[in-house]
Amino acid sequence: MTNTNIKRIGVFTSGGDAPGMNAAIRAVVRTGIYYQKEVMGIMRGYEGMIEGDIVKLGARSVGNIIQRGGTILKTARSKEFRTKEGRQKAYENLKKEGIDALVAIGGDGSFTGLHYLTQEYGIPAVCIPGTIDNDLAGTDYTIGYDTATNTAVEAIDKIRDTALSHNRLFFIEVMGRNSGYIAVNSGIAGGAAAVIIPEETMSFEELMTLLTEGEGSSKKSNLIVVAEGSKIGGANELARKVAERSDYFDIKVTVLGHLQRGGSPTYFDRVLASKMGVAAVEGVLNGQSDVMVGVRNHQMVYNSFDTIMSHTHDIDKESLRIAKILSI
Ligand code: F6P
Repeated sequence: MTNTNIKRIGVFTSGGDAPGMNAAIRAVVRTGIYYQKEVMGIMRGYEGMIEGDIVKLGARSVGNIIQRGGTILKTARSKEFRTKEGRQKAYENLKKEGIDALVAIGGDGSFTGLHYLTQEYGIPAVCIPGTIDNDLAGTDYTIGYDTATNTAVEAIDKIRDTALSHNRLFFIEVMGRNSGYIAVNSGIAGGAAAVIIPEETMSFEELMTLLTEGEGSSKKSNLIVVAEGSKIGGANELARKVAERSDYFDIKVTVLGHLQRGGSPTYFDRVLASKMGVAAVEGVLNGQSDVMVGVRNHQMVYNSFDTIMSHTHDIDKESLRIAKILSI
């Protein structure tokens, strides 16, 4: 059933870390071993590949990590790998270690690196989507998104307690440079008065109208969730602009930042990572390459690099509509 030419699989994490990456590493290692392959861990993503920082992994070396945030293989964003020379060095190290297939866990930058390796050196490779942003096409969910959103909701709930007690308006900034997934769904779950996201946002004037007119204006305490990539300014800038226009509100800002990236993964991320890890190894052993594993309507799927990169994972309009209706 499986490709007997593949003897050693290299696994690594790359780009921003995401809760659930360890569960994915564990699944890749154990599935490889299940199919009698050796599995090597490449440290610090493409940087470790270039430097030859590669370690052997066994079923026991990935014990007790399913519940841990971060990544035991560490991660990096490598500039050198973007050059042909960097990739040549990386490939030489893979050859030296006898690695004849790769599984990467990361976002679009990680997948792009993998694509170059498959194109330039013909090494079979599969990507597992790991990023809290949930901004990759070809999958309903990326590993880490569920945990990060739960973390944001927990923080919003806590801020609500103090906001209500003082009658304050809070701007809460969540992660997402280009993606509003965490913002929209933590906004709905946290009962935000408005959600401001990079993809589709209200204008600053619309925000002022919402705060000062209509049903919403009778509330003195309000929570506004802002994605960091908001086109009308981040939480600090919006707070300053609103304060310039009205002294009605006592305004505070909380930027959640990297705390959204850490912590123990939720059950959802652990199961997703486990399924994706199995699918990645079985995929590469069955001839899949230059593809990303995804979950669509509860089914595991594989999509080519070109398909993934030529599509965006858009926020569904229904979620935006719900956030709006419920925020009055
Ligand atoms: O891509 C994941 C992400 O957490 C984004 O939401 C955020 O903009 C970015 O990474 C932060 O990157 P860094 O940790 O390198 O500052």
